[in-house]
Amino acid sequence: MDSKSSASLLISLISFASLLLQCHSSSSDDLKTYIVYTGNSNSDEASALLQYTSLLRKAADSDAAARSVLHQYKRSFYGFVVKLTQKEAERMSGLDGVVSVFPNRKRQLHTTRSWDFIGFPLNVQRATTESDVIIGVLDSGIWPESESFSDKGLGSPPKKWKGTCQSSSNFTCNRKIIGAKYYKSDGSFEGEEKSPRDYDGHGTHISSTAAGNSVSQASMLGLAPGTARGGAVSARIAVYKVCWFDGCFDADILAAFDDAIADGVDILSVSLGGFSDENYFRDGLAIGAFHAMRNGILTVTSAGNSGPRPGSLANFSPWSISVAASTIDRKLLTKVGLGDNKIFEGVSINTFDLKGQQYPIIYGGDAPNTKEGFDGSSSRFCSGGTLDPNLVKGKIVLCEGRSQASGPFIAEAAGALTQGQNLRDSPLAFPLPASYMNLQDASNIFSYMNSTRNSTATIYRTNAEKDTLAPVVASFSARGPNRVSPDILKPDLVAPGVNILASWSPKGSISEVDGDNRTLKFNIISGTSMSCPHVSGAAAYVKSFHPSWSPSAIQSALMTSARPLNPRINRDAEFAYGAGQIDPVKAVNPGLVYDAGEIDFVRFLCGQGYSTRTLQLVTGDSSSCSVSAKASDLNYPSFALPTHPSNVNVGGNFSRTVTYVGSEKSTYKATVTGPPGLKIQVNPNVLSFTSRGERQSFVLSVEGSLEASIVSASLVWSDGDIQVRSPIVVFNSP
Ligand SMILES: *[C@@H]1O[C@H](CO)[C@@H](O)[C@H](O)[C@H]1NC(C)=O
Ligand SMILES: *[C@@H]1O[C@H](CO)[C@@H](O)[C@H](O)[C@H]1NC(C)=O
Ligand SMILES: *[C@@H]1O[C@H](CO)[C@@H](O)[C@H](O)[C@H]1NC(C)=O
Ligand SMILES: *[C@@H]1O[C@H](CO)[C@@H](O)[C@H](O)[C@H]1NC(C)=O
Ligand SMILES: *[C@@H]1O[C@H](CO)[C@@H](O)[C@H](O)[C@H]1NC(C)=O
Repeated sequence: MDSKSSASLLISLISFASLLLQCHSSSSDDLKTYIVYTGNSNSDEASALLQYTSLLRKAADSDAAARSVLHQYKRSFYGFVVKLTQKEAERMSGLDGVVSVFPNRKRQLHTTRSWDFIGFPLNVQRATTESDVIIGVLDSGIWPESESFSDKGLGSPPKKWKGTCQSSSNFTCNRKIIGAKYYKSDGSFEGEEKSPRDYDGHGTHISSTAAGNSVSQASMLGLAPGTARGGAVSARIAVYKVCWFDGCFDADILAAFDDAIADGVDILSVSLGGFSDENYFRDGLAIGAFHAMRNGILTVTSAGNSGPRPGSLANFSPWSISVAASTIDRKLLTKVGLGDNKIFEGVSINTFDLKGQQYPIIYGGDAPNTKEGFDGSSSRFCSGGTLDPNLVKGKIVLCEGRSQASGPFIAEAAGALTQGQNLRDSPLAFPLPASYMNLQDASNIFSYMNSTRNSTATIYRTNAEKDTLAPVVASFSARGPNRVSPDILKPDLVAPGVNILASWSPKGSISEVDGDNRTLKFNIISGTSMSCPHVSGAAAYVKSFHPSWSPSAIQSALMTSARPLNPRINRDAEFAYGAGQIDPVKAVNPGLVYDAGEIDFVRFLCGQGYSTRTLQLVTGDSSSCSVSAKASDLNYPSFALPTHPSNVNVGGNFSRTVTYVGSEKSTYKATVTGPPGLKIQVNPNVLSFTSRGERQSFVLSVEGSLEASIVSASLVWSDGDIQVRSPIVVFNSP
């Protein structure tokens, strides 16, 4: 018996004592599902199982043998899912061999013109090896019959692929969708089939954006017509269905990571979020992405949709990319024509055609369903059931607030006008003709209704118009700073995420209102969920030219070649858009990369306060915190300097090492731009390289005073041709 196991025996005796004291102190009603993460410290499944049994015996108040292990992680890292009381979970988290114990929390799921808009046309130069790149998508599954996933022209799956297709009678994979699996550790399927099939639409949309084939004449029922396609049109897709009607759970997300890493994917696209834990190892997505990174796989995540609140980011570990969402040059506007010939313009996705016919308008507050006990104070919001069908049938209902207009729809109204819109970047689909007006226009329509006894209106089909301001970061796109590691700038990048047309599941709802029976092959939606697969596709494109590059090298290439957005029309600067909008073509030839590997992230984590014990469990090796690093010295392609608001003078040093990825002898010079109040120096500011793979280090130092709460600057290394740009952000961090 080695010293480690005798230590665990001691702990086991202590906890046995506490077990006796606490016996039956809690009822089984308090049982909740927890994930017990044990890192990479087991050698095989059998030893892992023995360990779990022993852990359960030590932690459980009552009969441990009766606790069934709901799922085991065993292919790429170790851990298990089990029901515990809160006390048991606390006890478990203190046991030897356990990295963390955390509740199985629920997350939400957070063309196409968009690829052309960012300067990445279909006929761009492509590597013949693009079809060797596998993008794993963790989402709501896929609709395999969609034309976007035809495998025409593709050979057999790459040899490295070790995944499987969980096919059922009517789900089959092909040479495009080379693998598909579903995960639901609680076994509750709520009417959804036990299959990787997508009953929502979201997963189909994501997969086709990242790697869908080109499909000409795609449109959403005639809206926004064009060719729909993914970024890496020849890349393969591996589907991991983790999202269901009741949400996406951490236990299943981790199970998908466990498989995807072992299956041999190259890129993981994860458009999920909803909460984030301050501890990287209590967050299923951060844990999964860490193990992906260790195995050479880049994880791309969505920044989240709870912007523009500062610090609203959902995904921010430095070993994954966090993607914000911006507009493309297409805005969707829905005109409303009144009986007095006035025209107003709202925002919505209206595929219905009223053919210009005028319908009487009625105010929702004047049409309460009194039989059901509603009065005007509730019917004015037009929720389902609050309106009197006899009064609103065949009319256009003016509603207050932002709603899905289910009330007018159920009462068979001809249309609906909702109000409150002040930002035009997230048009919604409604189950009937509708437009979402700003308050001023809605008030003008109301005055018109007051001014005549016979007020009428019509709602036109949505028009796709040119948006000359784009790209602008969407209001919903989550903003930095990074709340856990403020020295790491997040989000990293921005990509199109507004009004994105891509494939859809014909079983998926358009407006999410019951009875809206329109079925779609393509749908237009917005979110950081949509921008994430743009970066996954771009990463696959870069990987196809550089199959041996590390995840950090690919991330660096995408970031240093990105185009910064205009700070005058984008509030929150880099906290909205990171390094800028992706430019996949430039990313293939980035000149220099800021590379980082597992050891760099381990040192970073040591510097963040994680212990040698934790890191040894996570990595399964002899990693030690005898060398730790400040977050500012992590070899990251951007620079963030948080300062306390009371500090008049700011200062910080950043160590970085760049790797030359060009081929001939070359000299790069540093140029810094920034506001006058800041002195930013680079030492040395000239780097000469003679061969590919050569590494050179420099220190960037910042000192001066802040003239605003966020100040942006940048460092550009250039050989006269290639620009290697990194944003620098200095900000007040309370
Ligand atoms: C097969 O797929 C269809 C959707 O195309 C679905 O309605 C049906 O329930 C599925 N299952 C079986 C066993 O046919
Ligand atoms: C319309 O008339 C009602 C009363 O009939 C009044 O309360 C409301 O303020 C008027 N609205 C507008 C916009 O004129
Ligand atoms: C009401 O307006 C409609 C459309 O402008 C018109 O066809 C109809 O004759 C009008 N009815 C009355 C009573 O004025
Ligand atoms: C949608 O389908 C359901 C079930 O088939 C049907 O009862 C309903 O009337 C349909 N709704 C519309 C608006 O056609
Ligand atoms: C940065 O490094 C320089 C040179 O070593 C040093 O003088 C300065 O104090 C450092 N600044 C900070 C904020 O640590």
